[in-house]
Amino acid sequence: LHIAVLMGGWSGERQVSLMSGAGVADALEGLGHRVTRIDMDRHVAARLAEAKPDLVFNALHGAPGEDGTVQGMLDLMGIPYTHSGLATSVIAVDKVLTKGVLVPHGVPMPGGRVVKSAELFEGDPLPRPYVVKPVNEGSSIGVAIVTAEGNYGQPIGRDVAGPWQDFAELLAEPYVRGRELTTAVLGDRALGVTEVRPKTGWYDFDAKYTDGRADHIFPAQIPDEITAACKAYAVEAHRILGCKGASRADFRWDDERGVDGLFLLEVNTQPGMTPLSLVPEQAAHCGMSYPELVQWIVDEAME
Ligand code: DAL
Ligand code: MG
Repeated sequence: LHIAVLMGGWSGERQVSLMSGAGVADALEGLGHRVTRIDMDRHVAARLAEAKPDLVFNALHGAPGEDGTVQGMLDLMGIPYTHSGLATSVIAVDKVLTKGVLVPHGVPMPGGRVVKSAELFEGDPLPRPYVVKPVNEGSSIGVAIVTAEGNYGQPIGRDVAGPWQDFAELLAEPYVRGRELTTAVLGDRALGVTEVRPKTGWYDFDAKYTDGRADHIFPAQIPDEITAACKAYAVEAHRILGCKGASRADFRWDDERGVDGLFLLEVNTQPGMTPLSLVPEQAAHCGMSYPELVQWIVDEAME
């Protein structure tokens, strides 16, 4: 096949996407496909019209590659693409819309509310501890955890996207103490549950993408009941949102509260494909190499 790999772009996750894209493009070449690498810019439609690929492998993270914009463009152009479609992407990229869809179906997610960024400098929007995050960013960009001890207004962890003023609206959620769990879904199958344990602090941007800054424990050393619940909620969320191909569901689990302490934080429709990323890692644990995973995603998109 002739496959165009879309990567880069101008979201806060540009560098992550370049890493995902490079990994995917190398694997596709190794598999014998003809690959056109496209660092997405405003002329992407013209470049695709010229390249005429059989398929776009979407290795973008963040807007506009994860929020439906690129998906809509590709729909109009009649080019098949990997991962989720337009409507799913619009909903899943937005943590507030995602709650609106999943919570009525019985998928537990933290409560909380949307706040204007200016409000945050007037006082606590929720009782501490709480988390403040952009509604539609990835990789922990712009996320802050505000604890009883934490200095209000000074995000704990590195805020790579700049100050909160960059975001008109933010989501404030109660902080779920305990553990960070994640589940990859391929189609209708949950691969397993990884626990992520940052060596220091929390699983912020640096801990996500710096080798050695977080331990990934697979399978997570948690009760079978929690493993089963993560897998069930991850598949359920994938299905309800209408995800295609690969997705990844991220959870927090308060280990003092049993299964009632498990909360889905979000579903990632464009999960990272970097060497430190969790979906390829879970796939590898399940006996699926990185090239096999990439080929599976391609096959799924061509169906
Ligand atoms: N947003 C990053 C790329 C992820 O979900 O893996
Ligand atoms: Mg995310």
